[in-house]
Amino acid sequence: MTRRIFIAGNWKMNLNLASALDLVAGLKEEAASATRVDIAVCPSSLYVQPIAAALKGTNIGVGTQNAYFEREGAFTGEISMAMLCDVGCQYVILGHSERRNILGESSEQVNLKTHAALAAGLTPIVCVGELLKEREAGQTENVVRRQFDGSFSGVSAEDMKKCVIAYEPVWAIGTGKVATPDQAEEVHLAIRGMIEKNYDKNVAEAVRIQYGGSVNDKNAKEILAKPNVDGALVGGASLKVESFMGIIRSA
Ligand code: PGA
Repeated sequence: MTRRIFIAGNWKMNLNLASALDLVAGLKEEAASATRVDIAVCPSSLYVQPIAAALKGTNIGVGTQNAYFEREGAFTGEISMAMLCDVGCQYVILGHSERRNILGESSEQVNLKTHAALAAGLTPIVCVGELLKEREAGQTENVVRRQFDGSFSGVSAEDMKKCVIAYEPVWAIGTGKVATPDQAEEVHLAIRGMIEKNYDKNVAEAVRIQYGGSVNDKNAKEILAKPNVDGALVGGASLKVESFMGIIRSA
């Protein structure tokens, strides 16, 4: 089974509209020849519509960084999956560690959002990953397993195949401390084992597992060369054409 490499940029709460449009204008030219890689950018929800319009007809998809699980109603301040689809969104990052750790999002909430995203036709990119103290205590696999089991509870095998998992060790996010290719591969292999245990080998082979945490154009090649690393979720290095393109090219 060959899984297509998937490189996604998580812009977080960065860029204004003008600089975001500049960035995608540069990316769409440079990325046009990258036909063997799936590419997406995930701006603020507020900019999904203009960015999706600017990327229409290109090989770059658009995602967002969060959304709410209810379909509609009295949920002040929230944005539904259907609203995002409506303005051209295809992917949604769920359970990012910044949402888990700063905003108190639980795996139960991530699970509701995963179901809602799939029902709306969005591809969820579900993040899992351990804190430094959890790694040091030898708890990495247990933590990731709890997040995996919680986030995907009740998801059918057919739907599971459509999901993307991003393994992002929290100690590597925005710190410049990237996991070694071997450290990444070890956890990716463990996650594939979790999918096989809860589903079967066929599903496990289909699901793409991205690595995230201080990926840049210098370290991407070695990480992406690992057999169970199927792409990258890129924060800081996705905010510049050269560094994001460098990662795409090394894939
Ligand atoms: P980083 O962020 O590449 O800036 O470490 C990755 C992420 O949080 O998705």
